[in-house]
Amino acid sequence: MHLMVVGGAGYIGSHTVRQLLGAGHRVTVLDNLSSGHREALPGEVALIVADLLDPPALRAALQSAQPDAVIHFAALIEVSESMRSPGRYYQNNVTGSLNLFQAIVDTRKVPIVFSSTAAVYGEAGAAPIPEDAAKAPTSSYGHSKLMVEQILRDFGVAHGLPYTVLRYFNVCGAAPDHTIGEDHPNKTHLIELALLTALGQRQKMFVNGTDYPTPDGSCVRDYVHVMDLADAHVLAIQALVGGAASAQAYNVGLGHGFSVRQVLDAVDEVVGTPLTREEGPRRPGDPPSLVADPGKIMAELKFAPRFTDLGEIVKTAWDWHRTHPHGFES
Ligand code: UFG
Repeated sequence: MHLMVVGGAGYIGSHTVRQLLGAGHRVTVLDNLSSGHREALPGEVALIVADLLDPPALRAALQSAQPDAVIHFAALIEVSESMRSPGRYYQNNVTGSLNLFQAIVDTRKVPIVFSSTAAVYGEAGAAPIPEDAAKAPTSSYGHSKLMVEQILRDFGVAHGLPYTVLRYFNVCGAAPDHTIGEDHPNKTHLIELALLTALGQRQKMFVNGTDYPTPDGSCVRDYVHVMDLADAHVLAIQALVGGAASAQAYNVGLGHGFSVRQVLDAVDEVVGTPLTREEGPRRPGDPPSLVADPGKIMAELKFAPRFTDLGEIVKTAWDWHRTHPHGFES
């Protein structure tokens, strides 16, 4: 099948493109390249440079590419930045997604897989978190994604638009052949920052908050490997196009969490030297713990993560960063 991958030049998008091609699909990427990289895409992939805030460009792209389905990744993704610039987050993530869905309804009513996030749960109270847990985002980022889920529900009812929502937990790692990996303009993710610190690009790591109600006082997250997440997209879009029920949401995580301190310990072990570590204040918008209950995606879509060992996950990220110390510009 022919997939349009919106935001396909980004971190998760580019790994998904690779897995889609491996599964025998054809791919067109639509990306504004604000944070994505042309170099992250194989030569056989057509790239349309367009912005979600440009509805005529979206309609033209859908009409020219004629995809059978769309996977929508494009978004701003930083929890802390969203607390400082909520307007940008609502504009990009909500208005941009709305424009895309409207363009799909207006041109080719094809199935959509949408990138949502564990941040929609906020301080869920449950651990592990099932899909029907209360939604109480603690950040504008989380709210923006939850709003898009609502828009999809309404478009599903009103226009019969088939869709699946994937709620990612903390995505990390890189393709094991280390040809593509994480390279955001602003570095905020824990593992990426720690590995850049190991490369000497930063002096030390801060543990953001040590007084959370967690076993060691630092935040707990469920770290899922980007290749496993990419496979989840292949499974989800194939199922949806194959006639599986629409309007489903799935958590994508491993089902167990690691604290910030445990992740930094794993990084120390993989890189072979302890990083300088300092305890810092809490980061606004961070919930104490986010751990998936991935039972639904495992049962219904046969999601079977291959990277379950934190050290192995960190190792794939380390191989990418040490061979590309300045990302795609290296
Ligand atoms: N952290 C530190 N020190 C750092 C960087 C991060 O202690 O230098 C902490 C954060 O405060 C947080 C944890 O490490 O407690 C994880 O932070 P990340 O920035 O790596 O990831 P987030 O949990 O904030 O967010 C990520 C994605 C979101 C997604 C969320 C789902 O960026 O898009 O996971 O859990 F919604």
